[in-house]
Amino acid sequence: MVKVTYIAYDGTEQAVDVAVGMTLMEGAIQNGIDGIEAVCGGNCYCGTCRVHVADGWLEKLKPAEEEELAMIEAAGDEDDHARLACQIVVDESLDGIVVTTPEFQK
Ligand code: FES
Repeated sequence: MVKVTYIAYDGTEQAVDVAVGMTLMEGAIQNGIDGIEAVCGGNCYCGTCRVHVADGWLEKLKPAEEEELAMIEAAGDEDDHARLACQIVVDESLDGIVVTTPEFQK
């Protein structure tokens, strides 16, 4: 398990344990985190699992694939820390990661 902190748009923080091998999206759904819809179930096809990755963590992630970048752009998210939570698989190196969920997913 690794510790993941999800911060809601209003600043509310929830630190939860997410199993290694799960995605940040699955960890959010399993723990009832608000702000992650994940309409497509993790297939990189809906853009409703966007998170903004905190400073210092973005560079620890594998770079986004073209498909992910296109989906973020289609969602109109111009934050340069935006990622799709369904494309981030948790491993030990991400213990302590902090992400913010947007107020709305679209
Ligand atoms: S759950 Fe649909 S793109 Fe991530």
